[in-house]
Amino acid sequence: MNNYKKDFEVLATKNLAYLDSAAMALKPRCVVDAVDNYYNKYGCNVHRGVYELSYEATEMYESARGVIASFIGADEEEIIFTKGTTNSLNMIALSYGMDNIKEGDEIITSELEHHSSHMPWFNVAKRKNATLKYVELNEEGRITIQNFKKVLTNKTKIVALNYVSNVMGYITPIKEIIKLAHEVGAIVIVDAAQAIPHMKVDVKDLDCDFLAFSGHKICGPTGIGILYGKKNILNKMEPIEFGGDMADDVNKNYQTYKAIPYKFEAGTPNVAGVIGLKEAIKYVSNIGMDNIAKREYELKKLALDELLKLDNVIVHNKTSETGLIAFNIKGVHPHDAATIFDKNGVCIRAGHHCAQLITKWLDVVGTIRASFYFYNDEEDVKRFVDSVKETIEFFSQF
Ligand code: ALA
Repeated sequence: MNNYKKDFEVLATKNLAYLDSAAMALKPRCVVDAVDNYYNKYGCNVHRGVYELSYEATEMYESARGVIASFIGADEEEIIFTKGTTNSLNMIALSYGMDNIKEGDEIITSELEHHSSHMPWFNVAKRKNATLKYVELNEEGRITIQNFKKVLTNKTKIVALNYVSNVMGYITPIKEIIKLAHEVGAIVIVDAAQAIPHMKVDVKDLDCDFLAFSGHKICGPTGIGILYGKKNILNKMEPIEFGGDMADDVNKNYQTYKAIPYKFEAGTPNVAGVIGLKEAIKYVSNIGMDNIAKREYELKKLALDELLKLDNVIVHNKTSETGLIAFNIKGVHPHDAATIFDKNGVCIRAGHHCAQLITKWLDVVGTIRASFYFYNDEEDVKRFVDSVKETIEFFSQF
């Protein structure tokens, strides 16, 4: 595979081993240039201006919907621009959840969720007197079909699960789960924040009802995300935000909204974010999602094999299929380890990763997480492994 470091200004100008792409992917120049081009050469609003400049900006903005739709196998009107995964998942809970969940209904989630996948449904369950049920994780900390079947009943109305865990990097058998959930009439919401940047995802093939992801984890700008929803469900849902651009007919005694997706996009949108995300999707598509998945797994495996030779390292996700390693160094707080890594220019994340349930399940204060992406290389792996060894050696003195 090519070395893609040259496409990233930050990697070209700073001597870093950036292993924190699960928190945020770096931005290639083409994405920064697209954002820059919009601000420098347009800088006007979309949908509203009755002049050439605004028509052109609208065309640049709206064409992103088609690019993103075909990237995940959706139809254009099923793509809603949001602020990010958190915003997308909260929208579903506050709209679909609050309007459809009744007392006694059951919502299935898991201890492997990011707070953004679990907390909105905890809130709905509390407000509606519904029951929140957790799929029991197997001994590795995975969601399995067998354990999912144990919590699925005729009362299940919602299944809210991650596709790839942000801590363990496990791939959830989501397609089979969706099929089973549909058999009891439940709808499935997929948190794909850690899946979309790393593997090919097709919403029609999965048959999910909703799917959410963020732009910033797939080399796009911050503050832009996607909510995919099946059009027959979106058509029946109420907006949660009201105002500019989503209204159709506004009167003193009634109001109507535009058709999907616009009825869910109140206010001036993140035009630069959408244009940047379009460029990011084109950039990663050009590399190929299968190539990306293969490369990050290879690099992860190289690092993992070295870590497994070290007595003082506890790896929590040895069998993970993706580019994440979640581990602890015996007797060393994850933040202390991160300080040594940082001194060596190795960027990792340490803590609970906004997923306290799995951190508690693992019975640790936090984990150290190294996340590999296609722009990493063997040199990054070496720097990372050397930093782990240095950390073990440094703390062995105390
Ligand atoms: N959700 C991001 C992570 O897992 C920020 O690090």
